[in-house]
Amino acid sequence: MKINIGIDGPVASGKSTIAKKVAERLGYTHIDTGAMYRCVAHYALLAKIDIKSESEVSALLPHLFIQLHPDGSIFCNDQDVTSIIRSHEISNAASTVAAFSSVRANLVIQQKRMAQDKGFVMDGRDINTVVLPEAECQIFLTASIESRAQRRFLDLQSRGQHVDLNIIKKDIQQRDFNDMNRLDSPLKISKNAHVIDTSNMSIDEVVDMILNLAKEVMYD
Ligand code: DC
Repeated sequence: MKINIGIDGPVASGKSTIAKKVAERLGYTHIDTGAMYRCVAHYALLAKIDIKSESEVSALLPHLFIQLHPDGSIFCNDQDVTSIIRSHEISNAASTVAAFSSVRANLVIQQKRMAQDKGFVMDGRDINTVVLPEAECQIFLTASIESRAQRRFLDLQSRGQHVDLNIIKKDIQQRDFNDMNRLDSPLKISKNAHVIDTSNMSIDEVVDMILNLAKEVMYD
């Protein structure tokens, strides 16, 4: 039986990397919802509007067409933005636009539509609470601030971006605060979630743990 797997968690908890691997192992489709908020932020920065203005950001939404391809590439109005949207600047801007209810409502409709059948691994902040509350396997990933900052530091470094570790740590704390304290769909643990602390686990260990939890549901 095919199921849906929802993976929520804070910044740099490893969600997308792990969700992608879980999907590959099951032959499922991975949907990285954070990339969609990043596309909105990218488009807003490109349009040079006031990123803090909900009305200005939401006015752009009808003109924004986001595509998440099975190979992991992300297109925004037919432009490949896969790498650009991972920048430090867009990470911070995405956290700002993700607090706007009009942005969330627009993206949540698209996300629900994308995963209306089974066989999806979707990661984000509100997947198990809002987007797919009926997901059969619900995971909440967490990790210490130190290990998350270190991961993000290495990730940015591998993309040729050199940002001070302390700045990354502060930004992560600020984004966590934004994500957990916004009024609409704050990051929280859904009542059916399995909480996994990945601080001292390898990616493959986490993937195996999620696969075991998923298989328990599939073969129940
Ligand atoms: O997971 P990420 O870092 O790529 O997410 C980018 C931003 O989007 C982050 O600040 C939280 C927000 N987000 C959200 O509010 N809801 C989601 N389902 C996914 C991401």
